Amino acid sequence: MNCLDIPKHIAIIMDGNGRWAKKHALPRRAGHVAGAKAIKPIVIHCNKIGVELLTLYAFSTENWNRPKDEVDSLLKLIRHYINNMYSYIKYNVKIRFFGDLRVFDQQIIDKMKQIEEEFDKNTGMTFGIAINYGGKDEIKNAAKEIARKVTAGELKLGDIKEKTIEEHLYTKGFSNVDLLIRPSGEYRISNFLIWQSAYAEFLFMENILWPDFKTKHIDIAIEEYNKRNRTYGSVK
Ligand code: IPE
Ligand code: IPE
Ligand code: MG
Repeated sequence: MNCLDIPKHIAIIMDGNGRWAKKHALPRRAGHVAGAKAIKPIVIHCNKIGVELLTLYAFSTENWNRPKDEVDSLLKLIRHYINNMYSYIKYNVKIRFFGDLRVFDQQIIDKMKQIEEEFDKNTGMTFGIAINYGGKDEIKNAAKEIARKVTAGELKLGDIKEKTIEEHLYTKGFSNVDLLIRPSGEYRISNFLIWQSAYAEFLFMENILWPDFKTKHIDIAIEEYNKRNRTYGSVK
């Protein structure tokens, strides 16, 4: 992959766990467990090939619409995953959790903070995990905080720039999405990184469900990305 342009920021909507479970005559929960297992090789591979930021969508603000037992098992799985994330330290990655994280109890919130801080001495890729994340929720929160600052006289209305909004998003400090991948054959963004994907290249991959997603699918996606002509409204 030497001569290929590696996207700085790859975002993935990890979709298809339920259909994978159905295909294997298993409960949906088993699909989520298989989906969680698929993550680590992708993180290791992306870091190895020089991706700077990989963001994965783990739980959306709309996922609360699922049956309570599925929501409970998903959150339990995410909690378990976080509690076991120290094993990532040897891969030289940094970690960022983003979204409305108040859904978790203090033990998990402290754990996430501890992981982010301890991993910060690593020098490789940043691995971002979106939990209880919604792009609209994120922009609404940014708007509220900016409005509060204007009202309090901390910020002038005329000084609000696109950068001001970016600095108030959960993803403050993240670069914009270069390549957004969604397996499972759904052709939508489902409220993921809507501001940050304004000029992303989208790749909707059919015939692959997230639990079966392998490093070769990242390579295929990057090859496809290299065929795109990113003009940003200009001509090339
Ligand atoms: C994605 O898989 C996992 C989460 C939303 C957390 P789904 O559960 O949406 O799987 P499908 O779309 O039903 O196959
Ligand atoms: C998006 O997948 C959310 C995550 C992968 C966390 P969904 O399966 O929940 O989205 P929809 O329902 O297809 O839009
Ligand atoms: Mg789905």
